[in-house]
This record gives sequence, structure tokens and C-alpha cells, in this order.
Amino acid sequence: MAETGASKVQSDRIWLDGQLVAFGEARVHVLTHSLHYGYGVFEGMRCYQGDDGRSAIFRAREHIRRLFESAHILEIAIPFALEEILKACADTVRVNNFKECYIRPIVFLGEGEMGVAARHNKVRVSIAAWPWGAYLGEEGVQRGVRLKTSSFIRFHHNSLMPHAKATGHYINSVLAVHEAQRGGYDEAMLLDVDGFVAEGSGENLFVVRDGVVTTPPSTSSLMGITRDSVMAILRDQGIAVLEQRFPRDLVYIADEVFMTGTAAEVTPVREVDDRRVGDGTPGPVTRKVQEVFGAALRGREPRYQQWLYYI
Ligand SMILES: Cc1ncc(COP(=O)(O)O)c(C=O)c1O
Repeated sequence: MAETGASKVQSDRIWLDGQLVAFGEARVHVLTHSLHYGYGVFEGMRCYQGDDGRSAIFRAREHIRRLFESAHILEIAIPFALEEILKACADTVRVNNFKECYIRPIVFLGEGEMGVAARHNKVRVSIAAWPWGAYLGEEGVQRGVRLKTSSFIRFHHNSLMPHAKATGHYINSVLAVHEAQRGGYDEAMLLDVDGFVAEGSGENLFVVRDGVVTTPPSTSSLMGITRDSVMAILRDQGIAVLEQRFPRDLVYIADEVFMTGTAAEVTPVREVDDRRVGDGTPGPVTRKVQEVFGAALRGREPRYQQWLYYI
């Protein structure tokens, strides 16, 4: 049984460098450059089945745009066009006969030269898909999760660049989530280098107090696509959303706290550093966001129809 935040991976086919190959054939050499130096970029998307039976990848175009932007930040030239990668994502879901799944494109440098300075290795691209349920557990989505402020600090934006979703960045997340789970919590809350709240190990964070929603700016967190969707939903509901820094104690006295991410979707937080949030149950703003977001990704919200990329 995998921990919350982890999933067994199985599918029939994986898209690798332009071909759909058998699951077991999607292998790389041990001298794959990015394996040694964490120099790669990736995405995580989800595909959902709507009430009409059709499956759509949620905000696929924005995710693939971010993949190309991440590669641009790291100076990696992806040897495919954006439209080709988009189509390949849809093909990967279709060939595996998934109605709903998680999709993981990754871009990395293959073998050939070794060393930090190597830059002539082939740029390789893979897209895998597999079924993945609630990232922080079904109970977490219903009742809320427990967070612990991490002893690991989110990296400074001049050390690693947070607008890139880069593989190596996730050492920070892995250390934080392992520490949190070992301590009996569900997820870590990471602070930035100045001690302000940044984000979770794989989610953005929102606090609600007196009807105003605040989320940290994306200077020290990933510019999440779920975060963007939730901000649009909140504003469309007439709820003000601020993007500003805040210290951890604002989280302690918030009426509601929730996290957002492709994997975690919208997950309420019921406790932070052993302090109960609000009355310890998901509040009305969190419930409303969960409801509208859930309807949007299944095609039940006409105004968010443009977020769906039908496969
Ligand atoms: C560190 C981190 N923050 C935030 C997010 C949420 O981003 P998104 O909503 O685009 O999945 C993720 C997930 O990709 C993440 O890994």
C-alpha cells in the first residue's frame, strides 16, 4: 500500500520520444544525465470523465505551456512543438483506454556526455499516464488534512527558480514530506527564506479569514494551475483574493485553510502545527471551491468549458 502522496504506476503504453512503446520498454540508461543532476522538467495533469461520457484533460494547454516555459528557464530545447506534445498526451490516455487518469510528461537529457557542464546530450521526452486517486487520501478530501511547518525552507528564487517545474527542485519537497509524514502529519507547510508561508510540498496554500482569501505570491512557490483556477472561481463567486505574504500564525488563526494542486485537487486543512483550524471541519468557502472546481473539471460549468481539452 502506497503512502498518501504516492501511487503504484501501471499502464499498457508510454509515449517515449515520439513513439507509443510498451510499458516495460520505456527504459533509460543509468548514465542518463538528468538522473545524476536533477536537470529535467515535468508536468502533472489530470484527465476526467464528464457526465456526457467524454474524457478531457484539465487545462492541458496551460500545463504544456508551463512545461515549455520550465524548459526555457532551464535552457532545454524540447524537440517537439507544443501542439505535438498536447496531442501526444491525449494519445497516451486514449491508447491506454483510461477514462480518468493522471498524466506525467517529463523532459530530460539522455546519456552521452557526463558532467554538470554537459549540454550536447539528446533531449528526451516521455509521457506516462496511470490511474491515481485522491493524492492526500479520500478522507483528507472529505475531512481535511493535518500540516506541519517544515524544518526545510523553500529554496530562494536565485538558487533554484520556482516558475520552473524542475525535477531537481523536488528534493526539497521529498525531504519536507518525509519529515512531516514521519512525524505523523499528512503534509508539510514550507516557509520561504524570510519565514513567510510559501506552499506545501506539492500544493499551493490558501487561507480564509473574515471572508477574504489570501494566498502567497508565486515568488517562492510554483505558479499552480489549480491555484489559478481556484482564484478565478473565487472571484467569480464575488470573493476577494489577495496574493500576499503572511507569517505562519495567520494560518493558525484562519477561519479556513485549503491546499490546491493537480494531484491534491482542493484539499481542506483541519489542523496546522497541532492547532485546530476554525472548528476543525472544512468551512463554507472551501466547500464551495471544492464543489465548483469539481463541477468545472467534469464539464458541468459552462463558463469554465475552455479549461477542458477533450481527448
Ligand atoms: C511544489 C508545488 N506547488 C504547487 C503545485 C500545484 O500546481 P498545479 O496546481 O499546477 O498542479 C505543485 C504541483 O504541481 C507543486 O509540485
